[in-house]
Amino acid sequence: MGKIVVIGSINMDISTELHDLPQIGETIKGSNVGISPGGKGANQAVAAAKLGGDVMMVGMIGDDAFGADALANLNSHCIDVTNVWTVPETTGLAMILRENGDNRIIVAPGANNAWLDELPLETIIANASILLLQNEIPFTVTEKAVDIARLYDVPTIFDPAPVDQFPLSFLRKITYLTPNETEFKQLPEDILQDETKAVLVTQGKNGVEVHDESGVNHVPAFPVDVADSTGAGDTFNGAFAVAMTSGKNLQDAVAFANKAAALSTTKIGAQTGMPKLSEIEESGT
Ligand code: RIB
Repeated sequence: MGKIVVIGSINMDISTELHDLPQIGETIKGSNVGISPGGKGANQAVAAAKLGGDVMMVGMIGDDAFGADALANLNSHCIDVTNVWTVPETTGLAMILRENGDNRIIVAPGANNAWLDELPLETIIANASILLLQNEIPFTVTEKAVDIARLYDVPTIFDPAPVDQFPLSFLRKITYLTPNETEFKQLPEDILQDETKAVLVTQGKNGVEVHDESGVNHVPAFPVDVADSTGAGDTFNGAFAVAMTSGKNLQDAVAFANKAAALSTTKIGAQTGMPKLSEIEESGT
């Protein structure tokens, strides 16, 4: 299995369960507070590592206690952190409101936006088998990474979250795009050209829609009791990368990632429920 490189965000997530949103000036009570590692980039790295992937994380943490915790967490999953750098900033922080398994997230990027130019992106990407990207670090870095990946024929997976007005020319350089259904509606039509092999639209309890040259195919969701959907999309991406680097075809890789994402929602916290390979194998069909 080849090297999976994730270039992206590293956060700490603080979440609470609530039943109503507060009005301006109002204080309401939440419950079940969770403080756990997150960030779309780090989540994808951990998802891939838990499934047996050989993973390198590339990103920025702050010089604070959350940064130290986030780094220790990546290390505990045997992820290569040679290119996780500490900068004089606060570590990225996500405030997550959970409601009946769904979530609303506010991200304060902090260190994720303080990208160091001296990072050896070309050497890192040239040695990758697949590259995972999201949109929680400066877009210029993501764009540069995609251009380097093309130079070295490294396939890319781009999760367009948080969604933005991405240039069509950029989107068409991505090998696999993985929007959720809300993000998909905000992307330009006709992305499936040039280098884009497939658009995988994750649809939560409705499964995944695969758009590729053969048309549109629907993969139904794997049934589970959802406790917290935070990080399900990230699990999908990490698991998809593991499946592709272990030689699965697109259809099988999507089915594998779909199941991993479903299982990840059965526990509270972005990374807590991410399955190991054995859990996927034992979970039936
Ligand atoms: O996708 C879930 C992640 O989004 C959370 O872990 C949070 O950190 C935000 O980046």
